Amino acid sequence: MAEVTLAVDGTTVTVPGGSTILDACRALDNDQPTLCYLDNLTPVNVCRVCVVEVEGNRTLVPSCSRPAEEGMEVATDSDRVRHSRKMVYEFLASSVELDLVDEETVAWMDRYGCDPDRYGPPADPSGDRDQRKAGHHRIGPGTAAETVHQPVKVDNELYVRDYSRCILCYKCVEACGEDAQNTFAIAVAGRGFDARISTEFDTGLTDSACVFCGNCIGVCPTGALMFRSEYELRQAGMWEEEGQTVTRTICSYCGVGCNLDLHVQDNRIVKVTSPMDHSVTSGHLCIKGRFGYEYVQEVGDLAVTPIDEILRRARIDDRGPRRHPEPRA
Ligand code: SF4
Ligand code: SF4
Ligand code: FES
Repeated sequence: MAEVTLAVDGTTVTVPGGSTILDACRALDNDQPTLCYLDNLTPVNVCRVCVVEVEGNRTLVPSCSRPAEEGMEVATDSDRVRHSRKMVYEFLASSVELDLVDEETVAWMDRYGCDPDRYGPPADPSGDRDQRKAGHHRIGPGTAAETVHQPVKVDNELYVRDYSRCILCYKCVEACGEDAQNTFAIAVAGRGFDARISTEFDTGLTDSACVFCGNCIGVCPTGALMFRSEYELRQAGMWEEEGQTVTRTICSYCGVGCNLDLHVQDNRIVKVTSPMDHSVTSGHLCIKGRFGYEYVQEVGDLAVTPIDEILRRARIDDRGPRRHPEPRA
């Protein structure tokens, strides 16, 4: 495809045909905020924090998915762009728990002077989000900021779903679906503000189509999806990311050659991720690579580090403690 030349904030840039406006911005080291975009997923353009102004276009356009065109004139920092981004961030922060988002997101929110508190104190959590039906949205009194709060879903040993932190970016749905796993265990249920990520009929993960690959955790930008081990350590006030080391290795389970990043705290593996720029897996793994590390650190009866008790708790699900096979005589 022929190259295209456009102007971003008055600076001319030439990019390969098929590039997006975001690609053009990045070619100029003029990065833009994103929430629902990730290099290893198909853009779904739902969050709208990446919008820019294009000369001659009536509406703002999502830079993450709009193709760059010859002669385009793009403005990434106009009053209209700043105002729009500020509103999007404020709406999200007034209704969603965002305390685990990355530093870049926090910096963008500061840059736009976001003040989510101006929408009022958080409304009381309704507790019934999973039961809401499209077309039956109740209208609040208008004195408090509506919230997406719902209880944390802890229904298995491997990962936890805390949809009070969910910005509905669809990344997990994409990763569970056509972009990686092709399992389609999760999707968006409901409409409007009642929309939420759900399994079929809101069934528990262990009764759903989920194969526990954890690829949804790998792409979640807000901590809504989290390793059970990380969740339990955070609950106990013992999650120490600054003190953790990350060691890259190769998965030992099969010949595909997936790269694993082992996150280690107190000499214990506390979670496993995979580099997005790996040519084979693009950051995605299967259940064995992501969760099958326990054989290198059996903590069943050998509580020797301060975090072993917590890690053992992370192995307990609704059906009681995990039952290990009896050792052979
Ligand atoms: S763990 Fe895998 S299969 Fe299960 S919901 Fe997440 S992406 Fe889908
Ligand atoms: S759970 Fe995470 S990845 Fe899925 S939609 Fe919510 S914020 Fe996005
Ligand atoms: S990052 Fe572009 S719409 Fe979400």
